[in-house]
Amino acid sequence: MAYAIAYVIFFLYFCSRFARVRSLRARLMKIKYMAKIALITGVTGQDGSYLSEFLLEKGYEVHGIIRRSSVDFRERIAHLEGTPHFHLHYADMSDSMSLVKLVGKVQPDEIYNLAAQSHVQVSFDAPEFTADVDAVGVLRVLEAVRTNHLEKTCKIYQASTSELYGKVEEVPQNETTPFHPYSPYAVAKLYGYWIIKEYREAYNMFCCSGILFNHESERRGETFVTRKITLAAARIAHGMQDCLYLGNLDSLRDWGYAKDYVECMWLILQHDTPEDFVIATGVQHSVREFATLAFKHAGIELRWEGKGVDEKGIVAAVTGNGLPVTVGQVVVAVSPDFYRPTDVVNLLGDPSKAKRELGWNPQSTSFEELVELMVKHDMQKVTREHFNLAEYLEKGIVK
Ligand code: NAP
Ligand code: GDD
Repeated sequence: MAYAIAYVIFFLYFCSRFARVRSLRARLMKIKYMAKIALITGVTGQDGSYLSEFLLEKGYEVHGIIRRSSVDFRERIAHLEGTPHFHLHYADMSDSMSLVKLVGKVQPDEIYNLAAQSHVQVSFDAPEFTADVDAVGVLRVLEAVRTNHLEKTCKIYQASTSELYGKVEEVPQNETTPFHPYSPYAVAKLYGYWIIKEYREAYNMFCCSGILFNHESERRGETFVTRKITLAAARIAHGMQDCLYLGNLDSLRDWGYAKDYVECMWLILQHDTPEDFVIATGVQHSVREFATLAFKHAGIELRWEGKGVDEKGIVAAVTGNGLPVTVGQVVVAVSPDFYRPTDVVNLLGDPSKAKRELGWNPQSTSFEELVELMVKHDMQKVTREHFNLAEYLEKGIVK
């Protein structure tokens, strides 16, 4: 009897040890094969959508923050919804508690803070909201990480901007160029830049700013100048719009392709040390040059006449078949509605550091390729379009 009892006790002890070893082994296996977890704020935006695709392809588990809106269709990420390892959560950059809870729940290895009121002209109309989201929002993310005691393990990427150089003090701009922000948006983003640097130094956190110059794509918001131009060129070529109204045609930008730029965000967080990087192509064009090339791809050659507010883009030749425009027709005009109280007019980035230390190729997509792919996309889009934002843009109701 005693033997039988001893045998049962030994058997139960053996089973429990075996189970514990097995669960420990399972846990170790999970750690070994566990995907990295990324949290993206601004996941529904242009960059957020490309970054999600990029990280999912790398095997990450991707979590994104969305806001409640009256329209539930999230166009840029609709194709990702429902795929495994892609999760969406309600939170808001102006709501600390929602960020603290979410960071605690997701336990991210990497946070990409892309959420922002990102339109410079709108920041003159809504400066307080812009400051809350674009400046204090960054602080809220940092504090959410500290509150959850993740500061030693969670890396943070901050979407910083060439707008910090603003009223530029040198050309081209690199990581040592002095900042001179020139809009409420840029001033808010400058706080974001400095608070990231402060937490890096004060708490030894791995947090970095990517100082990204303008990057565009077929997913670019329709009120940014490049997309406004490619959509209008496509609509004019289809007889759906008569004229495109723009602001400052002389403004110079260093335009790259958004899909190339999200790779850099990831590379910055994989670097050995937390550092800030300028991400740009090193090539500069004016708004006028962008428009000329975009219309060319839509089958309309432009010539320019006049100066300042009286400047016009006139049809010089029609190269597309059967387009409803005639030589001599004005298809681009200037409207002071699109002038800004202070405008940033000379951005040109020097990406040498990113090239050297991250091995990133700043010109994988050229300016010419970028304009072509955007126009091609929009030529197809306008044929299926119902909602006519162009009408609003033309009347100057939406900036
Ligand atoms: P975007 O298309 O305008 O996307 C902005 C994102 O932020 C959207 O997902 C938006 O959500 C979200 N957002 C705005 N306010 C929010 C709030 N209160 N709470 C939570 N989410 C909020 O911008 P993007 O072009 O992808 O740019 C991404 C980031 O890079 C931004 O921070 C921008 O300032 C910065 N940046 C952009 C460029 C560029 O050329 N694209 C260059 C330098 C820096 P909804 O969809 O709900 O509005
Ligand atoms: N939006 C817009 N609409 N801009 C116009 C127009 C117009 O009709 N006409 C001329 N522009 C000029 C603006 O005055 C500006 O000098 C330039 O075109 C580019 O304007 P946007 O495309 O609105 O971009 P942005 O440079 O002000 O801001 C973008 O890039 C920043 C990085 O430099 C945004 O994506 C920011 O979030 C980003 O930080």
